[in-house]
Amino acid sequence: MTEGNVGLAVIGAGVMGTGIAALASGSGVPVVLVDVDPAALERAERAIGGHIRMGQLYGKLSRTVEAGPVRYTGVLADAADADVVIEAIVEVTEAKAKVYAELSALVRQDAVLVTNTSGIPVDELAGHVRHPERVVGAHFMNPAYMIRTVEVIRGPRTAQDALDRLVALLTVLGDEAVVVNDGPGFVINRILQRMINESARIVSEGLASPGDVDRLFKGCLGHTTGPLATADLIGLDNVVDSLRALYERTGDPGYAPCDLLTAKVAEGDFGRKTGRGFFTY
Ligand SMILES: NC(=O)c1ccc[n+]([C@@H]2O[C@H](COP(=O)([O-])OP(=O)(O)OC[C@H]3O[C@@H](n4cnc5c(N)ncnc54)[C@H](O)[C@@H]3O)[C@@H](O)[C@H]2O)c1
Repeated sequence: MTEGNVGLAVIGAGVMGTGIAALASGSGVPVVLVDVDPAALERAERAIGGHIRMGQLYGKLSRTVEAGPVRYTGVLADAADADVVIEAIVEVTEAKAKVYAELSALVRQDAVLVTNTSGIPVDELAGHVRHPERVVGAHFMNPAYMIRTVEVIRGPRTAQDALDRLVALLTVLGDEAVVVNDGPGFVINRILQRMINESARIVSEGLASPGDVDRLFKGCLGHTTGPLATADLIGLDNVVDSLRALYERTGDPGYAPCDLLTAKVAEGDFGRKTGRGFFTY
């Protein structure tokens, strides 16, 4: 796989899919971006140019690379010719399972199916495809065009060749891959989601305000972003889905989404993407 001939499809044009498509396009890689929601595709089309400019401004994307074309489509079959498909749809197991079953019937036998799940075990998703050895995890961070280290997850059935092809693509994109083994939440979210949940509990118990929780993590521990601003950036809807996925698979009550988080989601306060979460934007 060399630059220019990577056939890349991204499924899901939300926060992550749009960021990943911007990263690819800004690296000169053509992308097919698929979403069931035409409004999401329109938002992505409006946002991608700005994302690329932001990546260039911060030196994360080269100014001299010509942007790869992005094709926006509501038809999953348009991903059929891709060498690599990155799935970035909602963190709902049943929705992902359906997409994997459909993709599996469409793509070439040797295509690499990559999930950007926050924490559903890769092997569980691999259970829905004809060739489970072609499924790998790539947990991009948000925004994908700015944060250039990717947690790559090797499932127990993942073939070395599939892993190598994903890492080769990440190299073309200028990302560093850190390869880990499979398990609920992998490394980052097994730790981070619990930290966010506990931070929200602390706020609801009246121990500290969201601003003070974050100030402590930044000032005392040197984090660049506090846990609650991170939650707002991820999207509180996604945080609750991720916590549920972890809780269902571990039975650990530390992952049961706390009432404050579920209440914010019920009120439509998802964080940055809706203008209000723990903080106002
Ligand atoms: N938000 C983050 O910071 C973050 C970071 C890393 C990983 N993730 C993971 O990335 C994935 C996407 O998260 P997000 O924050 O971009 O979510 P999002 O809600 O912003 O976007 C999800 C998109 O998927 C689309 N979608 C739903 N079902 C679909 C289908 N069957 N086919 C095509 N599109 C479909 C929706 O219309 C929506 O546009 C999730 O698995 C999430 O856990 C999120």
